[in-house]
Amino acid sequence: MATTRQFIPLLLFHFLHTSATVHRGGIAVYWGQNGNEGTLSQTCATGRFSYINIAFLNIFGGGQTPQLNLAGHCNPATTSCRIVSDGIRSCQYRGIKVFLSIGGGLGNYSLTSKQDAEDLSIYLWQSYLGGGKENPNAARPLGDAVLDGIDFDIELGSPIYYDYLVKLLKSYSEIGRKVYITGAPQCPFPDRLLGAALNTTLFDYVWVQFYNNRPCQYSSGNTYNLRSYWIRWTSSIDAGKIFLGLPAAEKAAGSGFIPAEVLTEEILPVIRRSRKYGGVMLWSKFWDDRSGYSTAIIKTV
Ligand SMILES: *[C@@H]1O[C@H](CO)[C@@H](O)[C@H](O)[C@H]1NC(C)=O
Ligand SMILES: *[C@@H]1O[C@H](CO)[C@@H](O)[C@H](O)[C@H]1NC(C)=O
Repeated sequence: MATTRQFIPLLLFHFLHTSATVHRGGIAVYWGQNGNEGTLSQTCATGRFSYINIAFLNIFGGGQTPQLNLAGHCNPATTSCRIVSDGIRSCQYRGIKVFLSIGGGLGNYSLTSKQDAEDLSIYLWQSYLGGGKENPNAARPLGDAVLDGIDFDIELGSPIYYDYLVKLLKSYSEIGRKVYITGAPQCPFPDRLLGAALNTTLFDYVWVQFYNNRPCQYSSGNTYNLRSYWIRWTSSIDAGKIFLGLPAAEKAAGSGFIPAEVLTEEILPVIRRSRKYGGVMLWSKFWDDRSGYSTAIIKTV
């Protein structure tokens, strides 16, 4: 508890950015890039995840036909991924939000013009969001279930026109069901590829990747860089909630893994004081199955 004797402007600053209360969060997880990670229904049935990012739509833009890649789960070139609709519905029935993640570390994507962004927004609306009824010929690669929104994991190509795409997608919320916009920038601030899109202030959830980025991640006992970049992100980005994005296992990323007890004892108690704290994002379901990370942290998230 802050005492009333503190210097007033300092107190005000403190209350704007943190509060005495420790906030509760949820776990977001990426699913889709390894066939040996269980189905989407099984993932949601664990009860440990509040948000799922289906990864990835990794080919789009420049006039290309957008393409989904779900590794060993199914083959999007046939209709075999339409079964994923059962999983989407069972997750949503449990109150879990399910998003389509566009981008990723491997693929061929970039927006080359405003028209390109408009074409992609219509494609996403008709093929994955609520616009399927408008166009009965839309492909619906994941079947008829309506996803809750689009996740931006832009790691390649150019930053241009993503801010425009975010505005176009968000405007579909006016038609009825809310379209969520989420994103996974890298922890150096501002993000080179998503910075302008994030500045639209239209993001509901931002899961910052605090890994594969040495200047801002945890490393061997040192939590300082991570904590200072967490403050940078939560005080600069106007988004619904901000999440700490982490590898679910040592091998899940090149660097930045945090042992579960360091996270629960030294990091979460501090970052949970932020009003913008939303929880933890994990890469990925496959690695979480191997490490048991979400089970180890869920009570403290
Ligand atoms: C990647 O996309 C561009 C269009 O944006 C296209 O010209 C190029 O051929 C594509 N590369 C591959 C390897 O498909
Ligand atoms: C977005 O806004 C932040 C300030 O919060 C600024 O530092 C950054 O340069 C902006 N990024 C872009 C690409 O406009």
